[in-house]
Amino acid sequence: MNQESRNFYGIYADRLDELSGFMVNEVQSILDSVSTDSETALAEHIKCRVKGSESLKEKLRKRGLEETAECALKSLSDIVGLRVITHFVGDIYTLVELIEASPKWKVKVVKDYIAAMKPNGYRSLHLILTVPFGVGDIPEIDVEIQLRTIAMDCWASLEHQLKYKKNIRNTSLIVGELKRCADEMASTDLTMQTIRDLIQKG
Ligand code: GTP
Ligand code: MG
Repeated sequence: MNQESRNFYGIYADRLDELSGFMVNEVQSILDSVSTDSETALAEHIKCRVKGSESLKEKLRKRGLEETAECALKSLSDIVGLRVITHFVGDIYTLVELIEASPKWKVKVVKDYIAAMKPNGYRSLHLILTVPFGVGDIPEIDVEIQLRTIAMDCWASLEHQLKYKKNIRNTSLIVGELKRCADEMASTDLTMQTIRDLIQKG
């Protein structure tokens, strides 16, 4: 967390860093319970971040909420966010089952943008967990986990970058082309899954 975010979160800052460390450890130990060998690992990598104060304030403003850390912690679900990047689509669903079975939290929301992609082509599976990890006087905190394949993550990062470019001309062409890339990558993901299934059958 940068100093500006640290100032914004104030008395909650250290504890939010601890929550983020706790989440990474828990998810890592779930991954390790299946495999500690990189050849068969369920995930390619995990990332975790505490939402920066700038994007946090913008979100609070948009929702007409008070721009304070306390209000954010009580009303938003992605102050602490993890991203788990898998090799194959099937690994996402294996991992969802393992995360759901953990006694360390309750799964509050499942958003499956793989079964039902967003109109722009965005695919990922999002979980919102309620974690009984006290932060100051707040007894439980919602945490968002985004599960994606390498291909889904690649598309989402590029699309995110492009969104911030100003004055894009030919918008409908660009939107269409991005959607086509998303569909092609999804098709490749399915083929890779099929190849793996064939290899595993022997
Ligand atoms: P927000 O966090 O306000 O967007 O809430 P929401 O209810 O719309 O949640 P949603 O599950 O749609 O999105 C949450 C997060 O998923 C975002 O903050 C992004 O990290 C990611 N995401 C969702 N849609 C897109 C998309 O179209 N492109 C990219 N690159 N990321 C997306
Ligand atoms: Mg959104």
